[in-house]
Amino acid sequence: MKNQSRLAELFALAPVIPVITIEQAAQAVPLAEALVAGGLRVIEITLRTPAAVDAARAIIAEVPAAIVGIGTVLTPDDLDRAAKLGAAFAISPGQSADLLQAAASGDLPFVPGIQTASDLIACVTRGHELVKFFPAMQAGGLAMLNALGGPFPQVRYCPTGGISEANAREWLAHPKVVAVGGSWIASASDIKTGAWSSIEARARAASGLR
Ligand code: 3PG
Repeated sequence: MKNQSRLAELFALAPVIPVITIEQAAQAVPLAEALVAGGLRVIEITLRTPAAVDAARAIIAEVPAAIVGIGTVLTPDDLDRAAKLGAAFAISPGQSADLLQAAASGDLPFVPGIQTASDLIACVTRGHELVKFFPAMQAGGLAMLNALGGPFPQVRYCPTGGISEANAREWLAHPKVVAVGGSWIASASDIKTGAWSSIEARARAASGLR
C-alpha cells in the first residue's frame, strides 16, 4: 500500500509515541512544546475528548517540530477529520473493512490496530505492513508478537497498551518493533495541572530508551 515508507520514516523518528488524551485545547501547545523539548516529536492525539480536534489543530499550527498523528480513529469520518486537520498520520486501536477501504482511497498514512492473525490478514491483504499492536500487554505481550512473526514475517509493530517506562526497553529491543506508544509520558493528571517540566523529563527519559 502507498504510504508505508512514509510511515516507516515517521515511526523511526522517536522510540516512544506519547498517547495524549486532552481535555482543554489551551493546554495543547505547552504540552507539545514539553514533549518536543524532551525529544519526542511524534505525538498521538486521541479523538476521545471534545477538545481533541482543536488541540491537534493548535499543535499543527504552532509547534512545527511536532509531528501530529490522530489516534482512536474508529470510522471513515474520523479518518476524514484527521486528513482535513492536516495530521501527518492516523492510527487506530483496530480495523474494519470500512476503515481499511477509506484509508486505501485517501492519502493520509494510516496505521490500523491488530490483536489476532485474522486482524493481520485483513491488514496485510490491504498492504499494511506497519500496524499498532493493541492492547499489547493484555493481548499476550512479546510472546504474542513472536508467535505472529511466523506467518507474518514482513509486519512491523507499534505496540501500545500497558507499556511503561519499566517495560518499554524490552519491547524496543524486539527487531519487529519500530516504536512503542503509551500514555505514561503525559498522564491525564499531569496535563490537567500543567506539569510541563515533569512531562518534559519523562519525554527525555523515553527518548533515550533506544
Ligand atoms: C492507546 O490508546 O493507545 C492506549 O490507551 C494507551 O495505552 P496505555 O494507557 O496503557 O499506555
